[in-house]
Amino acid sequence: MALIPGEIIEEIRSRHDLVEVVSSYIELKKTGRNYVGFCPFHSEKSPSFTVSPEKQVYYCFGCQNGGNLFTFIMQIEDCSFPEAVRFLAEKAGINIDAASAAPVSRKEGLEREALLKMHSFARQYFEDALWNTPRGKKVLDYLFKRGLAEGTIRDFQLGYAVNSWQGLTGRLQKKGFDLQLSARCGLTGKNNEGRYYDYFRERLIFPIWDSRGRVIAFGGRILRQGEPKYLNSPESPLFSKGRNLYGLHLALPHIRREKYALLVEGYMDVILLHQHGIKEALAPLGTSLTEKQVALLRGRLDKIILAFDADTGGEIAALRGIELLKNEGCRVMVACLPEGQDPADFVRKHGGNVFRSEVLEKARSILEYRLYIIKKKHDLQKEEGRVEYWRESRKILADVLEIPEREQYLKKIAKEIDLSLEVLRGDLEKIIQSNSLKKDIVYKESKTNKNVSLRELVERELITCILQYPDYLKHLKEFEIDVSSFTEGPNRQIMQYLFDLDRQGREIEIAALLSYFSDQEMHKLIVKMFHPVQLDEKEKVQKTVLDCIRKIKALSWAEERERLIKSLRDTVKQDEIGAKLQRIHDLKKREEELYRSGEGEDFDG
Ligand code: UTP
Ligand code: MN
Repeated sequence: MALIPGEIIEEIRSRHDLVEVVSSYIELKKTGRNYVGFCPFHSEKSPSFTVSPEKQVYYCFGCQNGGNLFTFIMQIEDCSFPEAVRFLAEKAGINIDAASAAPVSRKEGLEREALLKMHSFARQYFEDALWNTPRGKKVLDYLFKRGLAEGTIRDFQLGYAVNSWQGLTGRLQKKGFDLQLSARCGLTGKNNEGRYYDYFRERLIFPIWDSRGRVIAFGGRILRQGEPKYLNSPESPLFSKGRNLYGLHLALPHIRREKYALLVEGYMDVILLHQHGIKEALAPLGTSLTEKQVALLRGRLDKIILAFDADTGGEIAALRGIELLKNEGCRVMVACLPEGQDPADFVRKHGGNVFRSEVLEKARSILEYRLYIIKKKHDLQKEEGRVEYWRESRKILADVLEIPEREQYLKKIAKEIDLSLEVLRGDLEKIIQSNSLKKDIVYKESKTNKNVSLRELVERELITCILQYPDYLKHLKEFEIDVSSFTEGPNRQIMQYLFDLDRQGREIEIAALLSYFSDQEMHKLIVKMFHPVQLDEKEKVQKTVLDCIRKIKALSWAEERERLIKSLRDTVKQDEIGAKLQRIHDLKKREEELYRSGEGEDFDG
């Protein structure tokens, strides 16, 4: 195996908390600053295995074993260092092979180091100017006026870029820094005559850090009227705004502990929230949330609360972030602020406790938030507004899989628009049914193939999902779907084999299927079904699986009904006719119930 670059190892280390990792093997109890438990490496009667969350090391007083994250995995999983790294990378969702495919060359490494030094120097320079120049003291006053405490200003290393073209540039030159490099990361600019000049002038400076707290860029807020309000360092070998989050290194320990993060919009929001004890706060850097930013948080939290400015821009940004986060399997909530206020304004006015009780604790689920936004748009005093409110919100409710949840919102809306619950429910069911008929079929059969029945298509769609996510196989049993529920022929044969594999505890994978069946046509079908079409979203797959199950059940009942109705013609005995009619009636009712209540639908896949 190729050498794993140190940076990636570092990245993997930073994604794990030793306490968490150890806790997944042995039970730990907190005592003082450390955690203790029974040593997994020797048997003992009283716990002497100690983990230090601060130092991220472990030590056993009993057997003298000790080390860090990687040595722990090496010992407990009995594997080599690279194997341990790989193991931990997988848990953190890091693809080592992709990450190592572009190894940092020695030249690039040196360049990064030089850039880091330069940023650290610039940061110090800006800070000095804030605290020690007459104009800087004015800027300091402005910060105090905005409610920042002295300690906060120091913690966040705020600075001041003087109103000069040669301030930082001159200092960099004097210190022997490579000015060409300084222009590459946007600390300086270069004019037509080849002269370097200060990029940030007459601005309040916010250093931007990487996850380890090293300064990698700056944001500069204008101090007078003018544009742009914020000037940020350009993209550089050190900095990419879509890959970093402002305040990450300060918030991380708190996020790890609390298992949730608060995402806000601006530098000022992060700073003032931290000052008021809300240290889980961080912010994207002037863009809406990116996948890379979400990846920085992956696996570290169960919940994210978004608290964006109470204007429409903020609402849209929040919604965009939601989609990304939902795909990460993370619970997303949205906290709303009073009109015209941002989190900074609010926390400054009311303090951290009120922020927690009034904003964070009242955060809405995505669904509630969506409905709330729709409601705000319409005037519920007017008939027209009420109708529109219902029209838009029923689209959202139609996608809610959990019936009790759906009912809960239906009730709420019924009250709000003063219509009976039954009317709304009936209307919603119509939408849900037509949606489920219109829904794209994941498994795509060519339209010309008329020999395949709708039922077979549905079955193949379900098989497609199972091949991708074998876990769903066990749910079939819950819904009383077995081999006989599948159409005789290829579908049933494939399912038979999948059930067999599962029973034998063997892995469900396409290779097994292909080697089991020798028929060429069968191979074609399997490969076609395996082709993952739009199966990237877990939630969508779950919905598809449920839909398929529902359709298969409904179709089989419908088929049975059809058969019974046909056979009625030739039935003469009165009691037999009665029994058949009863059965037809029951099947019809079950079918309706299946659609209405989604009976037993709430499996947590
Ligand atoms: P805001 O305008 O809300 O700024 O932009 P703020 O941080 O609350 O600052 P104050 O309270 O007005 O002093 C929110 C964020 O959007 C990005 C910055 O990251 C800012 O913190 N932004 C804004 C830019 O990148 N460029 C801009 O011109 C404006
Ligand atoms: Mn703001």
